[in-house]
Amino acid sequence: MEKHTAKESARDQFVSKAGFIFAAAGSAVGLGNVWRFPYLAGQNGGGAFVLFYLLCVIVIGFGLMLAEFAIGRHTQLSSVNAFRKLDKRFTFVGAMGVLAAFVIMGYYPVVGGWSVAYIFKSLLGQLSTDSQIMGEAFGSLAAGTFSPIFWTAVYLLANIVIVIKGISAGIEKASKVMMPLLFILLIILVIRSLTLPNAIDGLKYLFVPDFSKITGDVMLSALGQAFFSLSLGMGCMITYASYLSKNENLVQNAIIVPLMDTSVALLSGIVIIPATVSFGFDLGQGPGLVFVTVPAIFATMGPVLGRLFGIIFFLLLTLAALTSSLSLLEVVVSYLIDNRKWDRKRAVIISSIVLFIMCILASLSMGPLSGFTIAGLNIFDALDWFANNLLLPVGGIFITLYIGWFWGKDKVKEEVTNGGSVRFAIFEIWIFLCKFVIPVIVTLVLLSGIGII
Ligand code: PHE
Repeated sequence: MEKHTAKESARDQFVSKAGFIFAAAGSAVGLGNVWRFPYLAGQNGGGAFVLFYLLCVIVIGFGLMLAEFAIGRHTQLSSVNAFRKLDKRFTFVGAMGVLAAFVIMGYYPVVGGWSVAYIFKSLLGQLSTDSQIMGEAFGSLAAGTFSPIFWTAVYLLANIVIVIKGISAGIEKASKVMMPLLFILLIILVIRSLTLPNAIDGLKYLFVPDFSKITGDVMLSALGQAFFSLSLGMGCMITYASYLSKNENLVQNAIIVPLMDTSVALLSGIVIIPATVSFGFDLGQGPGLVFVTVPAIFATMGPVLGRLFGIIFFLLLTLAALTSSLSLLEVVVSYLIDNRKWDRKRAVIISSIVLFIMCILASLSMGPLSGFTIAGLNIFDALDWFANNLLLPVGGIFITLYIGWFWGKDKVKEEVTNGGSVRFAIFEIWIFLCKFVIPVIVTLVLLSGIGII
């Protein structure tokens, strides 16, 4: 433990309050909101999925995020060491989180790469005719061999450069500029999408729940999406909060970050689903949805404006993706630095090489390797399912159990209220959520999603 104390003083910190919120929100807001949320809503029957997702965010998101903030800030350590210091028996939770980050980073950069490719496609005007947009452009990219791997490499390289530079310099700067811009652009797009013919039907699909669509599988997808979108269950927020100063208000942060994240997800849904319905595209088409529908919206704006918006949109999506994958890479890298005693550069480079190999396989699994499946899923979908529908929820169960049952109520209270100086009226309710509600709900959804109950 002495070793950790020595490290603490040398630890980087977020220089401003806004810096942390933007970095945490930057981690949360990413492909999960703009790419994954709309296509899952489309695939899983719309309103019922969205409703369950929102319930998960409110009940689980806030509670678990606060739990992770408290653990990270208290220990000032990245996830594995944080648990090792607090209670050795829980070290595996941190380790599982590192594994989850690793698995997610084994396919996330592929989608990041698509987004980078789409900046250039927009720039070169390759997304203007119907046939280009509808399938051709996306299909030939995603199912290709070299081109998606090339774009994945470009995307991963951007991550490597920023993470080597360290926390405050790289991550903070990137998040601060991009978030407000993305928000504004989404609002403009909402207006465009909702003024398309029949858009209202899409809006109904998204928000009017059809409860007959609720199955264990749908609930698990919504739950997994809540974890993924909020970057929870894997120690990412623990690691971020470990850089947080002792006088920050954790409770406030744990409310603001999910609020921002959920607004971006809902806005993206309101952009994409009504437009998809209006154009008559397939709502259940999966991972290609945003890459097909959004260019189609731009195509209705005329050649110049459409192209300009296309460039800006995919640039912002790429930046949003970057601030998320930076945080994932940071979980892996800080483990290698803190536990394996590697230096930062070596940790980033070696882990990125392994991740790149995984990404190549994930990318090829949409094309040449699509015949290879695990339990009916290609490599890309299998990695996604394993991380989000299994590792993150299980991590979440143990993190909340630790707060509820093992850390000690007084110590928890001391940490989340900054030694009594921050008011937290629903402390008892939060503890109750951590003790019973969250672990029980997550366990039940998990079991029913896997088909055990
Ligand atoms: N929340 C990020 C997104 O929505 C992904 C992510 C998951 C980042 C888990 C960190 C940890 O894109």
